[in-house]
Amino acid sequence: MKKKFITLFFCLLIAASVFSSGKKETVIGCAAYKYEDPFISGMRAVISEQAGDKAKIIFGDGLGLQLTQNDQLDEFFNDDVDSIIVNIVDRSAVGAVIKKAEKKDIPLVFINREPYPSDMYYWVGNVYYVGSIASDSGYMQGQMVAEYWKSHPEADINNDGILQYVILKGESGNQDSIQRSEYCIKALSEEGIASQKLDSGFAQWSRVKAQNIMTNMLSEYGDNIEAVFSNNDEMALGAIDALKIEGYFSEDKYIPVVGCDASSTALKAIQDGTLLGTVLNDSYNQAKAAFNLAYVMASDEEPTSDNIGYTITNNKYVWIPYEKVTKENFMSFYAKSKTL
Ligand code: GAL
Ligand code: CA
Repeated sequence: MKKKFITLFFCLLIAASVFSSGKKETVIGCAAYKYEDPFISGMRAVISEQAGDKAKIIFGDGLGLQLTQNDQLDEFFNDDVDSIIVNIVDRSAVGAVIKKAEKKDIPLVFINREPYPSDMYYWVGNVYYVGSIASDSGYMQGQMVAEYWKSHPEADINNDGILQYVILKGESGNQDSIQRSEYCIKALSEEGIASQKLDSGFAQWSRVKAQNIMTNMLSEYGDNIEAVFSNNDEMALGAIDALKIEGYFSEDKYIPVVGCDASSTALKAIQDGTLLGTVLNDSYNQAKAAFNLAYVMASDEEPTSDNIGYTITNNKYVWIPYEKVTKENFMSFYAKSKTL
């Protein structure tokens, strides 16, 4: 009997030591605004790849609805995950999410859809945003069109010295939509180019929706359109689909179209001569920086530029630079766009 007890005692001792030395698995929640968006699915793939066997990632698809995303976030909070990466559906919901996270002591990393700066003053040191400075991408689009306009006098179809354009926007209220739409025109005017907006429309970042909107714009304005600005590549490609049906990009009929993201389909369009240019929206580095931040905070460490491998600004932001992509340099971007 006594011997049995001693054996049991040793068994328990061994079990306890195994449990205490076995490190607890790191669990990170990741709430995407919409899986259907190809740019976002590219980021998801990178986050999984970065996590490898270091951490378990629980993904959730917000389906473009804040209420759906709130339910997913509540699940993450209830499950006591170690940190959460949030690609918020609606930026006006950020304040409430931060307050809940603070109560549960679960750090947050926002990505791609930028919180209002005023919300970033809550719970500093536990709330970060990883993204790119949206105005820069708009400015680069404007510079690419300006360069084309200056070297192609025939681009001024009605010869009035003014660049008539249309613009395809993503979503109202989204920082990328607002800033890209404003700064592409700012760059034109800083290049000394007078411009006139003929029309604009929201196509929710979608190729199909953009094709429909562009088709309508073409039936209304036809040849009066001298350039197309698009807040992303998918919509630029949709515009190109509509333009092709109207005979553009064959023989001498050309119109400059610019997008943003540098997806592999967009690079192909640059190669084919349909898309004038795009801007690298570096999903690889954005997703990697977001994972590193979430992982460091999940391990109860304080994030520093050293331990996450990216510069942290104001204790809140990691900014990944944009890059202009044109027919001169697109080849080198195929490798970077492998996730899209
Ligand atoms: C942008 C990107 C778009 C779309 C959007 C979603 O940064 O350029 O393609 O994914 O984010 O908010
Ligand atoms: Ca003109």
